[in-house]
Amino acid sequence: CGIVGYIGNEEAAPVLIKGLTKLEYRGYDSAGVAILGKNGLLIRKSKGMLKNLEEKIGSEIQSGALASTMGIGHTRWATHGEPSDINSHPHTDVAGKIAVVHNGIIENYAKLKAWLEAHGVKFRSQTDTEVIAHLIDFHFNGDLLQAVIEALKRLEGSYALGIICESDPDRIIAVRKESPLVIGAGKGENLIASDVPAILEHTRDVYYLGDREIAVLYRDHVDFFNEEGQSIRKETSHVTWDAGAAEKGGFEHFMLKEIHEQPKALTDTLRARIKNEGKKAINLEEIGFDASWAEANRVVITACGTAWHAGVIGKYAFEHFARIPVDVDIASEYRYRNPIYNPKDIFIIISQSGETADTLAAMRMAKKSGARIIAITNVVGSTLAREADLVMYTWAGPEIAVASTKAFTTQLMCLYLIAIQFGVLRGTLNDAELGAAVEALENIPAEAEKILSDKENIQRFAYLQTNKTKVFYMGRLFDYAVSLESALKLKEISYTHSEAFAAGELKHGPIALVDESTLLVAICTQDNLFDKMDSNIKEVKARGASTLVITWDDVSYFDKTADEVFRIPRTMASLSPMLAVIPAQLYAYYVSILKGLDPDKPRNLAKSVTVE
Ligand code: G6P
Repeated sequence: CGIVGYIGNEEAAPVLIKGLTKLEYRGYDSAGVAILGKNGLLIRKSKGMLKNLEEKIGSEIQSGALASTMGIGHTRWATHGEPSDINSHPHTDVAGKIAVVHNGIIENYAKLKAWLEAHGVKFRSQTDTEVIAHLIDFHFNGDLLQAVIEALKRLEGSYALGIICESDPDRIIAVRKESPLVIGAGKGENLIASDVPAILEHTRDVYYLGDREIAVLYRDHVDFFNEEGQSIRKETSHVTWDAGAAEKGGFEHFMLKEIHEQPKALTDTLRARIKNEGKKAINLEEIGFDASWAEANRVVITACGTAWHAGVIGKYAFEHFARIPVDVDIASEYRYRNPIYNPKDIFIIISQSGETADTLAAMRMAKKSGARIIAITNVVGSTLAREADLVMYTWAGPEIAVASTKAFTTQLMCLYLIAIQFGVLRGTLNDAELGAAVEALENIPAEAEKILSDKENIQRFAYLQTNKTKVFYMGRLFDYAVSLESALKLKEISYTHSEAFAAGELKHGPIALVDESTLLVAICTQDNLFDKMDSNIKEVKARGASTLVITWDDVSYFDKTADEVFRIPRTMASLSPMLAVIPAQLYAYYVSILKGLDPDKPRNLAKSVTVE
């Protein structure tokens, strides 16, 4: 879901719609705008895609009925109340003078609603957001800022808010608590947005609003306050992404573009962290990774979705390079368990967006226990980045497609860098081993490029296999972890029933599902386990499944067993995931296209899940 707000000299409605378009990737089910002009406060909203809203207001924009230079807009992803015109934001008070857009969840909304109803307020929607509009109205005495400050005292939960009021015009009030919000500082115009791409066309200077901070936007300046209403000072940050970075740039879909951006993203993520003074080494001093981190007795990794899969690979990598025990946990499980903390635990929290609700909750639990936190995230200034003790950014650039690709491989690059450096600090890697590992890392981007240049082979294979109703991925060790991510990619964007399992588990269940409608993809990069994998492939073939093997370019072991073999450039077996996942990303993409689906916006999924 997304928020935009504009106050300046341009016609507001088209600016808001355009901003919302840039946030579509966040996933949404309805959209709306509130415009404040000479005709007062006007609300227009619509269920479904943004174009429904555009159609609804197109003629009004033409006729000048919506003439105004300030307003707020929203794309909604339903939490309380089904997707509908009524439940779409903005929501207003009874008189329709105050309009509110909101991301997040008001946890005590039922209590507040009952209380407001007892004071005679009539509710129109089933949303938690509507209570905010009525609460502000309840406290309104001519000064919107004061009313907002009073209302905030009663709100529990998470929120990013954009608020405008007919009786206190010429300013937008923005507030945040645990939901992202940025303020764009333009010339003679200022904006709010839940994410940077929505404001890039207007300005590159942004303020990242902190938790419980309030921004008041006028046309020519922005004032900031804490929740008590005391004035605070904030500095702008300059966004350096190139103008086209958030656009599709020649590719048919963001996902394909982002798959192709992996060599560059991997290079960017790696380069600044390597030093080459006589001998190759890793340099993590700038981010504060000093010897004290290596005193840990255990590493705990928590994350959700694709980031969790990166964590599973991280576990194998830490064991391999640094010989340190690692636990990997799904954040939504972790937060409700009763985990055991050891005094010297360190946590690695992985999140592309840095805003995933479960991931942040897990991080806060770990922090409370006294553990030190390393964040791996793609979003500078995200909540995760701000709350962690140490941040290692994935320099992947904005990832727009819902299905994560370049964020995943760059998360892996970060994990490998930390694991190897851990090994150096703990004395489990000698200079020669370090040199070899760094050199192998440096070669990964070019090897990834080589896989991409062979993509037609994957496309052809996808074309031959679209009739398969079940697709299973299996592997051992690192290949098992890559299987998890491969199966997720396919199910996310092609809606094919897809599963991953450790190849050794085949005979403990999955084999019961295997028949002629099955495609079995075996990922085989662990040379010492080839004969085990070969037996597994034969077992499924004997039951009618088609088989594809992903293995090294110098391996002919599987040529006789598998129906198809896709080859990737050889690297160290322990680094294989950064390469082996790429054919699986491409396969998922092509199956989605062949089925006539939109891989960038899969049904029911959101890019960033900022609610539980
Ligand atoms: C959603 C996205 C996934 C992502 C997961 C975790 O489910 O659709 O692509 O892996 O959230 O997101 P994060 O931003 O924390 O990495």
